[in-house]
Amino acid sequence: AETANGAKIFNANCASCHIGGGNILIEHKTLKKEALSKYLANYDSDSIQAIIYQVQNGKNAMPAFKDKLSAQEILEVAAYVFQKAEQGW
Ligand code: HEM
Repeated sequence: AETANGAKIFNANCASCHIGGGNILIEHKTLKKEALSKYLANYDSDSIQAIIYQVQNGKNAMPAFKDKLSAQEILEVAAYVFQKAEQGW
């Protein structure tokens, strides 16, 4: 299923900085629902697309993944992050 693959992609590419939905570099910019709503542009209007944009392009200390992951993989990991945020990680 899409989220099972999303979990694998997350563990391989994101968990190093975002283990448990946290952020080891910028403590308050977590992947929790409240933080995404507060800090990630367009999260409230278009959640998955907002995550996709950040993963494709990176931001500051977060690397871009558009040359590392396929569009399908980015969609899957974004859907996974959204689902986990909704569930409270
Ligand atoms: C921020 C997702 C990989 C470091 C974020 C945000 C998302 C996200 C959605 C916005 C959170 C917020 O503003 O509250 C992901 C995903 C990844 C990934 C899905 C894997 C594909 C990484 C890695 C690092 C990292 C490997 C560290 C090397 C950061 C940092 C921010 C951030 C520093 C804050 C950026 C800023 O606003 O200055 N990440 N991330 N991320 N991520 Fe990642």
